[in-house]
Amino acid sequence: MDKNRIEAALMGVMHPVREKDVVSLGIVEDIKVEDGKVRFKLVFPSPDPFSSSIKKSCEEAIRNAFPGEDFKISIMELVRERKIEKRLNMELGHDALANVGHIIAIASGKGGVGKSTVAVNLAVALARAGYKVGLTDADVYGPSVPKMTATEYEKPLVDDSSGKDMIIPIEKYGVKWMSIGYFAGPSQPLIWRGPMASNALKQMILQVKWGELDFLLIDLPPGTGDIHISLVHDIPLSGAIIVSTPQAVALADVEKGVNMFRQKDINKPVLGLVENMAWFTPEELPDNKYYIFGKDGGKRMAEKFGIPLLGQIPIVQSIRESGDIGEPVALSDKPDSVAFMKLASNLIKVLE
Ligand SMILES: Nc1ncnc2c1ncn2[C@@H]1O[C@H](COP(=O)(O)OP(=O)(O)OP(=O)(O)O)[C@@H](O)[C@H]1O
Ligand SMILES: [Mg+2]
Repeated sequence: MDKNRIEAALMGVMHPVREKDVVSLGIVEDIKVEDGKVRFKLVFPSPDPFSSSIKKSCEEAIRNAFPGEDFKISIMELVRERKIEKRLNMELGHDALANVGHIIAIASGKGGVGKSTVAVNLAVALARAGYKVGLTDADVYGPSVPKMTATEYEKPLVDDSSGKDMIIPIEKYGVKWMSIGYFAGPSQPLIWRGPMASNALKQMILQVKWGELDFLLIDLPPGTGDIHISLVHDIPLSGAIIVSTPQAVALADVEKGVNMFRQKDINKPVLGLVENMAWFTPEELPDNKYYIFGKDGGKRMAEKFGIPLLGQIPIVQSIRESGDIGEPVALSDKPDSVAFMKLASNLIKVLE
């Protein structure tokens, strides 16, 4: 039993997502064989949801390589962040975005106003209008795009034909989707620290094989914190769309969102406002509009900040339901999808 034979055995252990063996991936370090004991480290470049199953597979592979022999195996698992930063710097250029037309962030000062709903449906509406569209779910703490598109059990593949590992986005409904949610189980909480969250997020944009796109939408997490600033600073955005509900108290949140993009060292255009939950229409009374959060709030906000009102989306049960089952309402020919089609055509007008 020696180091080389242990390494050979470990070359049979594949990473379930990255589709290479653990030795070639550089995860295995410091193999030592002494006194009836095999020791080595599994060093992951970032917290890896598969680390414990990989560890188990490594043990099995070694036991199978030396049947009948009596020895102990000790494997130390670690995450080494510095390595990921180095790798990211090397691997991440802006090549992934070389053939992407417009990169547009969807933001809001406050959570739960419907950014993801708007982003997903806008992506589908643009695709239905004949454009090539991709969407990145930049919510590394609470990704919702996999659920909203019923792709939560998909596992993206990695293409390394260019010498760099590029993640292949998931294609469905005519849109290319990417989310950190694809790399963790659907109910697994994601716990990242600041710089790692920023890096993971940039990977979801810059290390993806987008190919040719007319639009890449970025569904931002709520708020205007460090992650946002770092992202909007580093990505060549065409501009941002701010989503808000119409009530007066939301004004301060819209202002925060607008100011984030307008601050001096960021200075990206705010393309417009989307007023979500603009009115309520019950299913059985499709012509009735109830302005439960107040009327014309979105219009007034847009005027105050000197930006176009790109769209008004009503609050209707089918929008919520279609989000829950993962079939965006913009796919359908129901009247509820019209608001998203209008939003798409207004966005195109503004960009022109
Ligand atoms: N126009 C609408 N009509 C009905 N339900 C809606 C509408 N917009 C959003 N919702 C529902 O409201 C909830 C929150 O929406 P969504 O997840 O899109 O918000 P968000 O701003 O992305 O939230 P977060 O800040 O957590 O990322 C979801 O259950 C969604 O289905
Ligand atoms: Mg969201």
